[in-house]
Amino acid sequence: MRPPNPLPLRMRLPWPLPAVLCWGLGWAVFGALGAAGTAPPLPALAGAAAALGSALAIEGGWRRVIAAAGFPLSAWALGAAAAPPPWAWAAAAALLLALYPLRAWRDAPFFPTPASALAGLDDVVLPPPSSVLDAGCGLGHGLRALARLWPQARLHGVEWSRPLAWVAAHRLPAASIRRGDMWASSWTGHDLVYLFQRPETMERAWAKAAEELAPGAWLVSLQFEVPGVRPVACLGRPGLHRVWIYRIDARAAAAAQSSARPTTGGSTAGRPRR
Ligand SMILES: C[S@@+](CC[C@H](N)C(=O)[O-])C[C@H]1O[C@@H](n2cnc3c(N)ncnc32)[C@H](O)[C@@H]1O
Repeated sequence: MRPPNPLPLRMRLPWPLPAVLCWGLGWAVFGALGAAGTAPPLPALAGAAAALGSALAIEGGWRRVIAAAGFPLSAWALGAAAAPPPWAWAAAAALLLALYPLRAWRDAPFFPTPASALAGLDDVVLPPPSSVLDAGCGLGHGLRALARLWPQARLHGVEWSRPLAWVAAHRLPAASIRRGDMWASSWTGHDLVYLFQRPETMERAWAKAAEELAPGAWLVSLQFEVPGVRPVACLGRPGLHRVWIYRIDARAAAAAQSSARPTTGGSTAGRPRR
């Protein structure tokens, strides 16, 4: 039997649904007060306060900002833009969809890995990996940070958004970057898979890593931990970017091979370093 999902409900809602709910709440409060005849700017202020208050319940700094800013920004744009023509909205939506196809939104929108976020990873991951994959590589910031740690490694990236994959390939000509779905792509043969995705993705990522990576390979996640699996180490301090480091051991690999279900038993090699 699968253990209960340890993530609270708000973290299990697929992104960007929590943000959409916050924006919707802001507009609902705005609309209700406006309909009740409340004088401006009170409806807008109350809507912004409602959106901000509900955004505080969302996990992750950037997500909170996006959820809180959606209502005031859209209210401002609608007020300031004096009804732009419909084609302008369609063009903006088409551009957004090209940059962020829906699948990419469901897994994680684009946030780059900060340049120094992976400092110290090379002290834990030994021997140095020869082949490294950034699953969902965005514009290649994660790959750049990984290249600084291991200049000799062969770098690979897979990215669902076509424009982002194209730009990443031009920014990092030495890396092998292609447009594709990281879940449909094989992770086999890589010594280390790096992810900067979202909390809800991590259980699936661990199951895929345990099934496809060789024992001894590494799964490294910026910010989001694998629920129920003990990391070899965790770098960084709470409140800053944290780097969760997992190693595939023979037990996890065997469990993944024998079961199609996600694995929740993990490496027991060492306790997390905080
Ligand atoms: C938070 S960004 C991280 C970008 C990069 N890894 C970095 O650290 O700088 C997540 C990226 O994953 C991509 N992504 C999301 N789901 C994906 C999928 N199923 N297959 C490939 N890429 C995906 C998004 O388009 C986005 O660019």
